[in-house]
Amino acid sequence: MKLNIKNIVALISLAIIGLIVVQVIWINNAIDVRKSQFDQEVKNSLVVVTQNVPKVIQQNQETKFFQRQKQMNNGVADFNAIIDAMLDNTPFKKFSDKISKEQLDSLIKKEMLKRGINTPYVFSVFDKSGSPLFTQDSLTKSFNDKLLSEGINIPVYAGDFMLTQPFISIIFPKKNNFIFKKMWLILSISLLLILAVIYAFYYTVNTIHKQKQLSEIKNDFINNMTHELKTPISTIQLACEALNDSDMNSKESQDTFVEMIKDENSRLKGLVDTVLKTAILDKGQMKLQKEELDLLTILNKVKDNFSLQIQQLNGSITIQNELPEMKFEGDSQHITNVFQNLVDNAIKYSSHSPEIKIITAQTIDAYLIRVMDNGIGISRENIDKIFEKLYRVPTGDLHNVKGFGLGLNYVKSIVELHNGNISVKSTKDKGSTFTISLPIK
Ligand SMILES: Nc1ncnc2c1ncn2[C@@H]1O[C@H](COP(=O)(O)OP(=O)(O)OP(=O)(O)O)[C@@H](O)[C@H]1O
Ligand SMILES: [Mg+2]
Repeated sequence: MKLNIKNIVALISLAIIGLIVVQVIWINNAIDVRKSQFDQEVKNSLVVVTQNVPKVIQQNQETKFFQRQKQMNNGVADFNAIIDAMLDNTPFKKFSDKISKEQLDSLIKKEMLKRGINTPYVFSVFDKSGSPLFTQDSLTKSFNDKLLSEGINIPVYAGDFMLTQPFISIIFPKKNNFIFKKMWLILSISLLLILAVIYAFYYTVNTIHKQKQLSEIKNDFINNMTHELKTPISTIQLACEALNDSDMNSKESQDTFVEMIKDENSRLKGLVDTVLKTAILDKGQMKLQKEELDLLTILNKVKDNFSLQIQQLNGSITIQNELPEMKFEGDSQHITNVFQNLVDNAIKYSSHSPEIKIITAQTIDAYLIRVMDNGIGISRENIDKIFEKLYRVPTGDLHNVKGFGLGLNYVKSIVELHNGNISVKSTKDKGSTFTISLPIK
C-alpha cells in the first residue's frame, strides 16, 4: 500500500476507532469486575450477619426469659408468654418472632459500613417457597419479586433450617451510581484521553488539508505570475533586437519600439507593484495619505475609465445616486483602486455582456456603495474565501480569466484601514453585489 496522505488518514482513523473500541471493552470489563467485587463484599457481610443472627436470637430469648421471671414473681402469669417460652428452641417458632427486622437491619448496616458500602439497600427474609417472613414485607409484592429475582441471597441459620430454610435477600437500588462514583476518576481520564486523541487527529488532518490547499494556491499564483512576466520580457527582448538591427534607420520605427519597451516596462512595474502592495499590507506598514475627497467624483472617474472597455463588450455601467455629495476623509489613490478592483472583477467574471450598477446610499453614520453585476456569481462554499489572499474560485471553463487572487484581499484591507467594511451577496449564475460601507466622520 502506498503511504499517501489519504491512506495515512485512513490508517490513523482505523487505529483510533480500534483504540476506542478496546478502551470501551476495557472499561466495561473494569465495571463488571467492580460489580462482582461489590457483590462479593456484600456476600461476605451477609455471612457475618448470619453468623451473628443466632447470638441476637439467644439474647432476645434471655431478655424475654427475665421478663417472664419478673411477671411470675409479681404473680401475673401470661398464658401467651408461657406458650412462647415453650416454643423457644423448637422449629415451630416463627422466625419473625425470634428476631425483629430492625435488629437484622442494624446487623446488616454495621457489616456494610465496615466494608465501606454506604449506599442505601432494601432487604427481606423469605422462606424456601419465597414468602416473606416478616409480615410488613408481605404487602409489597412487586418489590418482593424484584428482591427474589435480582437480590443477593444468603441462607440464614435460625434453628428451623430444615423446615423453612429462610434466606436473606438484599438489593442496592443505587448500586450502579455507587460503582460509578468509585470509578469516576478512571472513567473521566479515559474519556478525556479519547477526546484529546480525536481532537489532535482532527486538528492534524485539518492542518494537512489547509497546507495542501495553500500549496495549490501558491503553485497557481507562481504559474500565473511567470506567465504574466514572460510576455513583457519576450516583447522587450524582441524590441531590443529590432533596435540593434543595423537595418533599423528610420526614427519613426525606432520610436515605435522604444514606446513598446516603455509600455511593457510599465506593465512589469504594475505586476511588481501588485505583489509589493500586498506584502506591505501584510506587514501592516501601509501608510495612508488621507485627504478630504468626494466619493462621487471617484466613482465617476472609475466609471469613465472602464466605459470604453464595457462598450466594446456591449455592456453598460451606471451610477444610481441621489446624494448631493459624499464627502469622505481617505486616501484618494487607494479608494480609487478599491472601486477599480470591484468593477474590474464585475467585468472579468461575467459570461455575457456585463450590466454593472453602482448604487449609493447613506445611513446615519456611513456611506454605502454597492457594486452590482449580472455575472457568473459565487457559490456558497467559495464566498467566504474570496477575500483570502491568492484565493481564486476554481473554474472549469473560464480558465482564460487572468488574475492573482490579490484584488479582493487588497480591497478588504484598504476598506478596513479606513474603518469601513465590505460584504458580499451572490447567487451562482445570477450575479454578485459587493457592498462597501465607509464611516462618515
Ligand atoms: N464580481 C464577481 N463575480 C464572480 N466572482 C467573483 C467576482 N469578484 C471576485 N470573484 C471571485 O473571487 C476571486 C478573487 O477575486 P480577486 O479580485 O481577489 O482576484 P482575481 O480577480 O482573481 O485576481 P486579481 O484581482 O488579483 O487580479 C476571483 O478569482 C473570482 O473567482
Ligand atoms: Mg480581481
